[in-house]
Amino acid sequence: MSGTHKIAVIGGDGIGPEVTAETIKVIRAAGVPIDTTDFDLGAGRYQRDGEVLSDETLEQLRTYDAILLGAVGPAIGDTSIPSGTLERGLLLKMRFAFDTYINLRPFTGVPGSIAQGCDFVVIRENTEGTYAGEGGFLRKGTAHEIATQGSVNTRFGVERCARFAFELARSRPRKKLTLVHKTNVLTFSGDLWDRTVTEVARSYPDVTLDYNHIDAACIYMVEQPGRYDVIVTDNLFGDILTDLAGAVSGGIGFASSANLNPERTGPSVFEPVHGSAHDIAGQNKANPLAAISSGALMLRHLGEDAAAQRIEAIVREFAFDPAAQTASTIEIGDTVAERL
Ligand code: IPM
Ligand code: MN
Repeated sequence: MSGTHKIAVIGGDGIGPEVTAETIKVIRAAGVPIDTTDFDLGAGRYQRDGEVLSDETLEQLRTYDAILLGAVGPAIGDTSIPSGTLERGLLLKMRFAFDTYINLRPFTGVPGSIAQGCDFVVIRENTEGTYAGEGGFLRKGTAHEIATQGSVNTRFGVERCARFAFELARSRPRKKLTLVHKTNVLTFSGDLWDRTVTEVARSYPDVTLDYNHIDAACIYMVEQPGRYDVIVTDNLFGDILTDLAGAVSGGIGFASSANLNPERTGPSVFEPVHGSAHDIAGQNKANPLAAISSGALMLRHLGEDAAAQRIEAIVREFAFDPAAQTASTIEIGDTVAERL
């Protein structure tokens, strides 16, 4: 399409580098010109020299058209990295700095899964809520200590997220949007979300708007996943609900995600939902389909729709193939590349 795309690659830890390598292989096989630069970041880097993500590296990343991320994190049981170091210092730092305010996660239920035959997308607000980091300790470590963790919800932030979700719902055949929140208990943030989404809905009379409380949405996700088309929700509810959505759709091994800055004032970040799975790292065992699907989301964002569509169709067909359950990481990458 529009020349060579400059991609920053953060393979990360565990199976991360293996699944991103297959993703790059597939993108090249699709004929999309990309120029990649590897960034050594994650648990391994932190353990080696203490860097999580310096401001200097952050500014280098900002110059790329997109960022492809594998997975970051230490092995389970490795307690050498305090919880939150990589989450806040690397992943969330990028989300905030690059203003990737949409976290888009599509789900297609594979055969045999609870959500078999269903197709829905969760739009998670990605820069506010409890993730904003508001709060602190008082009298920490004493018997009278207090910890608060606030939820930040701005009219601006909720509205831009709602608009994105309505636009997406409008572009899909069913044109249905479900707001998921907990307005019966979170009467301040829930009220802001409810009023904002209801107001934005006036500009989208062609989209059917529904509402579910988060607890009910968890039941529906398991018992009636077919009721969903597009879901819009806040940061933490979206985090939890997309893990459940992954589980009912055939496993987190298939779940892809895009951290989008729709206005392109910063690079968007594309990553599989799964983690670094150190227990199977380096054994050519990881399923790279979630990473490859995330690569397809990246291509869509870069305007390479035709290539994205071809990759998505092959991934879908392959995910539905029992052979994919036993194939190696490289075999899956090679097969998708060949079918292209
Ligand atoms: C996810 C992850 C992250 C999140 C963590 C690792 C910061 O769970 O992308 O869903 O909570 O957003
Ligand atoms: Mn999560």
